[in-house]
Amino acid sequence: MTDEWIRIAAPATTSNIGAGFDVFGLALKEPYDIIEGRKIDSGVVISEVSGPGSESIPTDPEKNSVGIAAAEVLRRCEADFGIELRIKKGIRPCSGIGSSGASAAGGAYVAHILCGERLTPTEVVLCAAHAEDVTSGGFHADNVAPCVLGGFTIIRSYEPFEVITIQPPESLGIVIAMPDVLVPTKEARSILPKEVKVKDMVFHIGNASTMVYGMMTGDLGLIGRSVKDAFSEPARSVLVPYIKEAESIAMSKGAIASFLGGSGPCIISFFDKSSHEGEHIAESIVKMYAEHDMKCDTWITEPGSGCRRI
Ligand code: HSE
Repeated sequence: MTDEWIRIAAPATTSNIGAGFDVFGLALKEPYDIIEGRKIDSGVVISEVSGPGSESIPTDPEKNSVGIAAAEVLRRCEADFGIELRIKKGIRPCSGIGSSGASAAGGAYVAHILCGERLTPTEVVLCAAHAEDVTSGGFHADNVAPCVLGGFTIIRSYEPFEVITIQPPESLGIVIAMPDVLVPTKEARSILPKEVKVKDMVFHIGNASTMVYGMMTGDLGLIGRSVKDAFSEPARSVLVPYIKEAESIAMSKGAIASFLGGSGPCIISFFDKSSHEGEHIAESIVKMYAEHDMKCDTWITEPGSGCRRI
């Protein structure tokens, strides 16, 4: 049995966003992976992987985020068929903008369509999060949730799992700067502190709460002031050369916040689209890295939708 190919765009996402470690996530309009799937008689087969960094991506479906997530959907739906998958990476692995999350979400989403869309959106997120657990060293859904659902997402609880979505403000602009260094999520998670101080917990609750209020009311000033992190970025900034320079350059060029994207190395800068265009931020960060003989790719983007059929 073979069937027609289904094609999915699975977007990059930025997670943590200051105080929301493993809780906050935001879908980005660009870049995105393209995941294609079609029914076959049985099993999960990955027949093609292309795009930036694809040489490092395993084609063994039991080790590949797309394959693991698709298999989990087939299992939950008790499907009596298999699936063949093709992966076109638009998001380089080890980037900090949800590369494995996009693959996992795209794999789950394409299998969900092939199974007749019998799962709830939350179940699709959980199938993708299962793949994140296997490949990135921890069960976290803060990339796969916005990748499936779109917008700004909050994981209220992991057990039982509950996620809510908020439409982010239209004027929120985003610059992604990706210096030419690889940061595997497993490694970035292994260097995190095992305990937090009460003072830091209070700081995070205050900033996370006001971030949500800022997203709901469209208050970009409050969003900018609420991007604060006393936990993950301080521990991980050693993994990203010149991150502090990049962030202060972004702020000097009009960003309202500049911070480590997920587990890094991407540096995310928020700006107000109604008064800025983002080019100055992107160009200045690229120039700074070039002065240190480092390549840095950039995207100027905005919040986007979740996985969609194309
Ligand atoms: N919240 C996760 C982390 C995201 O920071 O480890 C990984 O991309």
